[in-house]
Amino acid sequence: MSAASNALSSNDSAQSQTFEIRTWPGAVGAEIIGLDLARPVNVEDFGRIHRAHLDHHVLVMRDQRITPEHQIAFSRRFGELQIHVLKQYLLAGHPEILIVSNIVEHGQNIGLGDAGKFWHSDLSYKELPSLGSMLHAQELPSEGGDTLFADMHKAWEAVPDALRKIVEGRQAAHSYTARYAETRFEGNWRPTLTSEQLAQVKEVVHPVVRTHPETGRKALFVSEGFTTHILGLPQDESHDVLQQLYALSVLEENIYRHRWQPHDLVFWDNRSLIHLAAGCPAHLRRKLYRTTIQGNAPF
Ligand code: SIN
Repeated sequence: MSAASNALSSNDSAQSQTFEIRTWPGAVGAEIIGLDLARPVNVEDFGRIHRAHLDHHVLVMRDQRITPEHQIAFSRRFGELQIHVLKQYLLAGHPEILIVSNIVEHGQNIGLGDAGKFWHSDLSYKELPSLGSMLHAQELPSEGGDTLFADMHKAWEAVPDALRKIVEGRQAAHSYTARYAETRFEGNWRPTLTSEQLAQVKEVVHPVVRTHPETGRKALFVSEGFTTHILGLPQDESHDVLQQLYALSVLEENIYRHRWQPHDLVFWDNRSLIHLAAGCPAHLRRKLYRTTIQGNAPF
């Protein structure tokens, strides 16, 4: 057994770790203090982390000195991992990791530099969107580079009755390519997709309001990043309704802004949140490793 799989195996023989789950006032999220993901995580500790993930939607674990193998193995405990369609940005030898980075080495982008430029839920353009994602900080800029998370349960609660009547029971289309062209011409991160890649990211439809499969809570499930329109509404109305829903999704009081520190691992629930990369000055280097865990077909 490798060190990583040993450290993160799901057997219950490992000693419990002493850690605290600390929430902060107001916004979504919690910090797990004292947990070391390079050490074994037994079933009981895993259960606490899982519960905290469901309750708080985004978990911050500071100073995790872990390898890609650790990150992959820990992610796998939550489900099957998804491989990103932009294969050139996958970590060599570890296709489960997408490199999110603005760094250019020897004239080549080492990662996807504009990931998260628009609010989105990871892989909502797939039939089986992501349950959750983990980002592990590798290299951070001295300014900027924050990631923002918005609570989509609270967003749904904020939708007024008249708007609820319009969207309840409706489906929306999600497309990877919807804003791809737009972003493609703003930077050089996005090559033309091959027909094989296009076949992997065909437009899908999901309910506008989804039910979290583990908590039963309702959440808005549209985002400016990938949602193109609401089915069955005239184009203008669909556009207006989506703009209203997007505005309600990012109310200040429902947002957690993550300010990255070295070796942070952040694990969020894509069924409960949307997120946004705030960006950093182009000359400052930023690199993170992302794993995404496959979720259910939204209902
Ligand atoms: C992402 O959307 O997965 C990237 C977020 C970030 O770079 O902060």
